[in-house]
Amino acid sequence: MAAALELSANPSSVHEEGRKARDRLERARAEVAALVGASRDDVIFTSGGTEANALALRGAITAARRRVVVSAVEHPSVRATADALGAEGVTVTVLPVDGAGVVSLEALEAALGRDVAVVSVQAANHETGVLQPIAEVAARARAASVPLHVDAVQAVGKLELPLEVADFVSVSAHKLGGPAGAGALIARAPLAVIAGGHQQRGRRGGTENLVGLCGFGAAAGVARAALSHAPLQMRLLRDRLQVGLVALGGRVHGHEPRSPGTLSVAFAGVPGELLVQSLDLAGIAASTGAACSSGTITPSPVLLAMGLAPALARQAVRFSLGPTTTAAEITEVLAVVPALLTRIRAALE
Ligand SMILES: Cc1ncc(COP(=O)(O)O)c(C=O)c1O
Repeated sequence: MAAALELSANPSSVHEEGRKARDRLERARAEVAALVGASRDDVIFTSGGTEANALALRGAITAARRRVVVSAVEHPSVRATADALGAEGVTVTVLPVDGAGVVSLEALEAALGRDVAVVSVQAANHETGVLQPIAEVAARARAASVPLHVDAVQAVGKLELPLEVADFVSVSAHKLGGPAGAGALIARAPLAVIAGGHQQRGRRGGTENLVGLCGFGAAAGVARAALSHAPLQMRLLRDRLQVGLVALGGRVHGHEPRSPGTLSVAFAGVPGELLVQSLDLAGIAASTGAACSSGTITPSPVLLAMGLAPALARQAVRFSLGPTTTAAEITEVLAVVPALLTRIRAALE
């Protein structure tokens, strides 16, 4: 990123500086393509996961296909785009999930038809880490000739997944160690575009964010090199955290298979907001649900879709681990939490 900052040229310019910028941009594209198992030509750089999701859903709509199918546990960037499309006259079908957070394949089969522009099912959930059966979803979408979009923001770089089965895949740099404000939509099927310049083969106009995208490429390269060991390490630490929190009475949301970096847990009688605030005072950063909805007291739509009562969903706290999380940090969390639970419960009595 520092080297890219030295280049002030536009990657579309034909002069030498421009060609250098283009070269860096294309190297970043190759890294992202390699991490996701895509062809370079299919990588459309975006400003992040939110834009990639919006592009996939909006871009897939055609005159003949005016219905979108999304799971009930999608990230707000998918749900809100679907809602906005609904307000514009597109039909939206929401697929239910079971108590473990897994999408209903029967409901999916029933929802698919010639009028469906795209079906959107995430790879890993942003709150519980629960993995969706993407290969099974893809087989059904393919059989019905419906394009599949997979929001893989929470999975890419943390798991090896069969993402080549999807027509559209969303990725975000800041979830894999890169900078925020950079991401990509892998598009293997035609889609309507952000009109403007001719950048990115005319599919997403606008001068590219060279510095951010170089950071994305570098992070993708590091994540790919670490795929053989970092996720395993993360899973071991996550399991240690989970066993420790369950021993303290914690209830875990969602069943395996789950992403190794996410743990949603709740303690009876302890509002999630209060535990998150107490953890913060102890120097531990956690959240109550999707980060985008933090600060609101509405319970997580993901947990409600899994059948949790609102009062129980409000107790959820999400711990996120990354490749740099250490065993000492897990030990510290487990040492701190018992006193926090006691203090919060005593204060509420
Ligand atoms: C599953 C999922 N999709 C999409 C996004 C949005 O990505 P971005 O913050 O890059 O817009 C997030 C962010 O948390 C996410 O977890």
